[in-house]
Amino acid sequence: MTSGNAPTLYALLGGEPHLRMLVEAFYPKVQEHPLLGPLFPEDIRPVMEKQIQFLTQFFGGPMLYTEEHGHPMMRARHMPFPITTERAEAWLFCMKQAAEEIGMPDDLKEIMLARLQGPAHHFVNQAST
Ligand code: HEM
Repeated sequence: MTSGNAPTLYALLGGEPHLRMLVEAFYPKVQEHPLLGPLFPEDIRPVMEKQIQFLTQFFGGPMLYTEEHGHPMMRARHMPFPITTERAEAWLFCMKQAAEEIGMPDDLKEIMLARLQGPAHHFVNQAST
């Protein structure tokens, strides 16, 4: 039976410690990526903390991002940055590599990446050059 009690992706991923590991593996890859690195500040810590909060709620855990920062409005928050399809793909690729680095099971990795695909492409706000 499927029910409203199905575990969240947040729970399946292992909750906050695993989400933290994922995000901490992800941002060094973003910083090293030629298309992504230049968009981000040198002090990546605050971005990491916000991403942990956001992904926690996006994957069905507690509403940590909204509690501290208000409505996510993520597309609007990305508008100051030139996001092309190539950058969306690069972002997803870094996330895939981070999942592999922390040993996330393949089935969960695929579910997670499928869940992120929509938002990543939704944030595209500039045609490729
Ligand atoms: C599509 C490719 C993406 C690019 C190029 C990108 C780039 C960025 C940049 C440059 C920032 C601002 C860093 C700063 O504070 O200076 C940012 C913030 C953020 N991004 Fe992305 N991003 C992408 C996709 C995503 C996706 C798919 C998510 C989540 C599903 C996400 C979640 C966030 C969050 C939570 C923040 C912090 C927002 C805040 O300041 O409160 N991003 N992103």
